[in-house]
Amino acid sequence: MRSGGNMIRGEGLTRIYRMGASEVRALDGVDLNIPRGEFVGVMGASGSGKSTLLHMIGLLDRPTAGVLEIDGVDVTRLSERQRTLFRLNRLGYVFQDYALVPELTAQENVYLPSKVRGMSVRECNLVCQDILERVGLKDRMNFLPGEMSGGEQQRVAIARALVNRPALLLADEPCANLDTKNSVLILDLIRSLNRELGQTVMMVSHEEWHRQYFDRVIFLRDGKIVDEVGAGSAP
Ligand SMILES: Nc1ncnc2c1ncn2[C@@H]1O[C@H](COP(=O)(O)OP(=O)(O)O)[C@@H](O)[C@H]1O
Ligand SMILES: [Mg+2]
Repeated sequence: MRSGGNMIRGEGLTRIYRMGASEVRALDGVDLNIPRGEFVGVMGASGSGKSTLLHMIGLLDRPTAGVLEIDGVDVTRLSERQRTLFRLNRLGYVFQDYALVPELTAQENVYLPSKVRGMSVRECNLVCQDILERVGLKDRMNFLPGEMSGGEQQRVAIARALVNRPALLLADEPCANLDTKNSVLILDLIRSLNRELGQTVMMVSHEEWHRQYFDRVIFLRDGKIVDEVGAGSAP
């Protein structure tokens, strides 16, 4: 049904924050085309607009101007309710600080989005167990976030983002709070999900060594794309 085409198409994407008399152009006319199935890195100095771009694509914020199509849908035309459904059904989002519910177990945290989608308890259990096994946390299913390491918590967050099989996984500096060993674990996991499940992934990072994982890297500076190293191009 949705053959061909790009997973993400942006044209002149702009986001201006107005604060009193001053304005910040957090995104300043970004054009981008991300093919399906790619693992894309977004890099650039702090304040260059990486999170703003990811928020835009994750439908957590709206562009001030520009065109944005995700998975073949012009998302700028969606109503608030349609945006919520789109996020729930087609997008997975992983935050730097995991954003788990502390009172819920790993399994219950992963459960949430499926429950909201109206899956039966039985179906939910099966899907959750399957994805937690996939991220190597089969024996942590009944642990609370506070009983797990940062790396384990981030794996729960990834499982939660993936449980609805989103077309697009978005991750904003998912390794920022992790040591190198756990970062490698998370990056290997995301890459294997990208390769084996054909998941399109867009990940923000400011660590130079993460580049080896990406098929394409988009470099931002002052809200503009200053360089793009795509799949197959020379290093
Ligand atoms: N809610 C906001 N209100 C005002 N300015 C903001 C807001 N969010 C981000 N900015 C500004 O937009 C620019 C880009 O921020 P951000 O996308 O968070 O950068 P990065 O993720 O690359 O560090 C920065 O100058 C930042 O101060
Ligand atoms: Mg950021």
